[in-house]
Amino acid sequence: MTFRIGVLISGRGSNLQALIDACAQPDYPAEIALVISNEPEAKGLMRAQSAGLDTEIIDHRPFVDRSAFEDALTSVLAGTGVELVCLAGFMRLLTNNFVERWHDRLINVHPSLLPAFKGLDVHDRVIATGTRFSGCTVHFVRADMDSGPIIIQSTVPVLPHDRPEDLAARVLASEHECLPMAIRWIAEERVQVVNDVVEIRGAVSPEGGLTNPSGAR
Ligand code: GRF
Repeated sequence: MTFRIGVLISGRGSNLQALIDACAQPDYPAEIALVISNEPEAKGLMRAQSAGLDTEIIDHRPFVDRSAFEDALTSVLAGTGVELVCLAGFMRLLTNNFVERWHDRLINVHPSLLPAFKGLDVHDRVIATGTRFSGCTVHFVRADMDSGPIIIQSTVPVLPHDRPEDLAARVLASEHECLPMAIRWIAEERVQVVNDVVEIRGAVSPEGGLTNPSGAR
């Protein structure tokens, strides 16, 4: 049986689109069972609907508190029988309760090389500090914001005169590669969390390192 995932979004949904495209490949081992948005106007909902996926809007605003909102999320997700929940640009902080309910079955994609540059406005801060490399991280979620065992990271250079939107676009392209890859490995049961560190069976790592800038004349 195909591995079923639930995707939580709040906005544009370009990472969702990368997953939709991956799932359309005949050899991809996962399928999107449901897309939930907490924002009724999220553009990603249209992407999901165009792909013929089930969608649900669970607006956080009418709920009395975070845990009531999260109970609604869990009840819909559990009812769909998803084995993994993927936060793809989901802009609500989740409580420990929800995170533990989905322990090692909840992943997030973040546009920096964690644990550096957690939180919002990542690219402005990367540029302002003169950092030479940025990238993205896909990780299992723990209760602290943008923390948890790292599954995959990809680096991109920060180039002279980059504006935040230039860097964001470069990082986003790497997110679109990493997120489907991480989910493939999880679906293939190659991913294990040992002492809060991820081990991946059959993973191939690059040799050597990158240097940026690599020379000066
Ligand atoms: C991505 O950069 C993701 O890393 C961050 O929010 C952004 C969502 O983009 N958490 P999209 O909605 O997937 O296009």
